[in-house]
Amino acid sequence: METVNERKKEPIILGIETSCDETAAAVVCGRKILSDEIASSASVQALYGGVVPEIASRAHTDAIAEVVQEAIKKAGITYADIDAVAVTYGAGLLGALLVGVSFAKAFAYAIGKPLIAVNHIRGHLAAAYLDEPSLKPPFVTLLASGGHTAILYSPSETEFELLGSTLDDAAGEAFDKVARVLGLKYPGGPNIERAAKDGKPIIPMPKMLKGGGGYHFSYSGLKTAVINYCHTKEQKGEEYSKADVAASFQSAAIDVLVEKTTAAALEKGVKTITVGGGVAANTYLRERLKEKCDRLGLHLVLPQKRYCTDNAAMIASEGVIRYQRGEFADLSLNAKASIPLSVTLQTPQANNGKEK
Ligand code: KG4
Ligand code: ZN
Repeated sequence: METVNERKKEPIILGIETSCDETAAAVVCGRKILSDEIASSASVQALYGGVVPEIASRAHTDAIAEVVQEAIKKAGITYADIDAVAVTYGAGLLGALLVGVSFAKAFAYAIGKPLIAVNHIRGHLAAAYLDEPSLKPPFVTLLASGGHTAILYSPSETEFELLGSTLDDAAGEAFDKVARVLGLKYPGGPNIERAAKDGKPIIPMPKMLKGGGGYHFSYSGLKTAVINYCHTKEQKGEEYSKADVAASFQSAAIDVLVEKTTAAALEKGVKTITVGGGVAANTYLRERLKEKCDRLGLHLVLPQKRYCTDNAAMIASEGVIRYQRGEFADLSLNAKASIPLSVTLQTPQANNGKEK
């Protein structure tokens, strides 16, 4: 069996993620996941129909020490084996982020190891390296989460060209809002997916900037159309199939992502597509994208669903990239509630390890 010292050729990074309702810690060695722990307050949040920031912060405070200890224990390492502590410092809920950032700063200081500041979205992008350790840029990435929807071109591990993004709502946000209208519980995405299994995509939906808009997206028209459809039916006292609405919305929301991502890969002349973000856990999206990539001879890197939604292994994975570049943060690191996508995708100078 491989010993910790043999593994040492690659950095061992402890990742910590608390940007929303998941308290997560993971240990990776290079691109290999040694442990991956998640405690979620989603079931409590579901009672309120969405994430209540104060509840999320309190749940993180309760869970973080144990989640980190479990991750270290399950990785079979000691504190001395850890090369650096990588933590999500933004974007997300401020109070939630602060729990992770404060814990990571104290922990890194206590064990005498460097701190790495990780942007949550860069973490989602770095999840692909865990799924396929031999993955090398260039590739095109579909990023689809609760806050972002974008197509990116990566010529290297640290460079990103934004090819297109949403002009209004993010795809995940549209899933969550439509779920609420259909009376489905938080989190909306997986519940729409479940409801759609019993339905057919037979309800006409507005066109999704298909030909136009380059690689941009717009979800607000689709969301409004679904809301209007349901309200009109209810006002007229007419029955309608929630499963058909879910299936029709899902295919309209996803087909455009598949179409534009593959078109971008062809235009850029790259052979590989990667995905990241919670919406990439959607089975319909995964199947459609796989079919299309197979047809076009493109290689698809599809991280396991667990590594598409929020997790700490992806934060540790981005931590590895920064560790190798010597991009460390200091103890002045603070949490940031919002970070524009343009800043997220900049390659930081080796200043404080964070985007300015
Ligand atoms: O990446 P993520 O876990 O958190 C953010 O960084 O936002 O993404 C959460 C989003 C939510 O909007 C959620 O409804 C959506 O991803 N999502 C899904 C699925 N699983 C999560 N959307 C569609 N289908 C899913 N299976
Ligand atoms: Zn996320």
